[in-house]
Amino acid sequence: MNLMSLHRRQWMAASLGLLAPRASRAAAARIEILPEEPIGRISPDIYGHFTEHLGGCIYDGIWVGENSSIPNTGGIRKALTDNLKRLKPPVIRWPGGCFADSYNWRDGVGPRAARPRRTNFWANTEYLSKAPDGPYKYDPNHFGTNEFVRFCKLVGAEPYLAANLRSLKPLDFYEWIEYCNSPAGSTTLADLRAAGGERNPFPVRFWGVGNESWGCGGNFTGDEYAIEYRRFVEWAPRFGVPLSFIASGPNVADYAWTRSFFSKLTEKSKGPLRTLYGAALHYYCGTTGKGDAVDFTADDWYALLSKATRMEELIRNHWQIMGEIDTEHHVKLIVDEWGAWHKTADIAPGYLFGYFPTLRDALVSGLTLDIFNRHADKVAMANAAQLVNNIHTSFIAHEDKFTVTPVFHVFEMYAAHQGGMSLRTEFLTPRLKPPSGHGLASLSGSCSLHGARLVLSVVNADEKNALETEIHVRGRRLSPISAAVLTSKDIHAHNSFDHPNALQPVEKKLAPAGDPYVYSFAPASVTRLEFDLT
Ligand code: AHR
Repeated sequence: MNLMSLHRRQWMAASLGLLAPRASRAAAARIEILPEEPIGRISPDIYGHFTEHLGGCIYDGIWVGENSSIPNTGGIRKALTDNLKRLKPPVIRWPGGCFADSYNWRDGVGPRAARPRRTNFWANTEYLSKAPDGPYKYDPNHFGTNEFVRFCKLVGAEPYLAANLRSLKPLDFYEWIEYCNSPAGSTTLADLRAAGGERNPFPVRFWGVGNESWGCGGNFTGDEYAIEYRRFVEWAPRFGVPLSFIASGPNVADYAWTRSFFSKLTEKSKGPLRTLYGAALHYYCGTTGKGDAVDFTADDWYALLSKATRMEELIRNHWQIMGEIDTEHHVKLIVDEWGAWHKTADIAPGYLFGYFPTLRDALVSGLTLDIFNRHADKVAMANAAQLVNNIHTSFIAHEDKFTVTPVFHVFEMYAAHQGGMSLRTEFLTPRLKPPSGHGLASLSGSCSLHGARLVLSVVNADEKNALETEIHVRGRRLSPISAAVLTSKDIHAHNSFDHPNALQPVEKKLAPAGDPYVYSFAPASVTRLEFDLT
């Protein structure tokens, strides 16, 4: 064995925690799982995705067309659906984003060849105005409601439609609901749906009432939006489907918006709280000045991870304000846009906000999904922005080229949490020293219980040091089963079209061990451990 492969083997062993002595000396960190303190069931919808007519997301990313030489199912990219199924995607949001409030759903139904071509909402951005003409600028509407719902069906996800509140009227909203949900043969719109190949109602349960109504969705105040929201929703037709309405929520820490929206919404009665499923919070932890996705320093690494953890404070604070009015917390938080946002990287012409996510973005995914799990009582749905070729993406595709990203791997590892009972889990762990470490906790994570099976996910943000950790479960014993670890010696590691497997998790069965169980978390890693609880 040469020296390189010896080092490699040692590093792999460390990355799987296999060099950890079994409680032979005091560990540097401690995790305590409290099975008697359940937080709430982890809604599978927390593991949702978002797709917008933006850059290369819809055209090329999802839709390649039925006559394409790229393998497809009815025009939908097969490599995408095959891989997306591995994530068990519960729900997908569409068609925006800001695009939603400029979109007329009627443009995307009926015979494809007769659909109008429209200027895309994003066409006037500096990046796209310099790009050659393409569907990201002039949308051919080949991907409309039927195509989106078929895409969802192919991967087993529920559709979540974001309606246009800024530039269409409530009647258009009612008619989109009718188009999707009215019984076969009942109305002209049901017949139009059938003419597009879908005789039976879809049906669509999740409806977003505008998007970012504080900004691109109309520039409303919270008060003004509450009035619009009531007008759109109060008498909307149901067609026997229990509709879950999602209101446009605040931008990041705009607590005044949350307070004013909920106050105005309920000024006549608390009735609207009964039909409002969730308030949408958006938070992107961008790199400062939209820095490079791949080329960054250790300081940039910690700065971004530290920004990602802000999600926790946002959830807690908005929830507390919602509770001032919605005292029984009927309305949940829906984080329907989140992710790390860097600079566009010119993957292909017109791919606005496209770049190759790295290990750093994988850690952002782990940190964020762990926060959602820890707040399973508050967050009912979340949608990573966006699914393919855009921002915090799980896939990059261009023509016949395709790769999954490190974000994908975290979603696949964390799918094991879906539907489990989130348990209070305390991490006693060193802080990474400011300024360079930004005071970030080196270890953080979440734990869920599925019958007698425990799933523990842990992020080690320390880019240099492994952390030997005692894992305790109060009043019970842990019988280790398996580990999956995503890490690299290079914090910039990422997949590309030429190296689609450059970064992928390593999976390993774990041998029975003593009490407490001691595990060494690799530097710069996302780890999923599975145990039986005895
Ligand atoms: O995801 C990109 C954009 O970010 C969305 O269109 C908008 O809602 C948000 O500002």
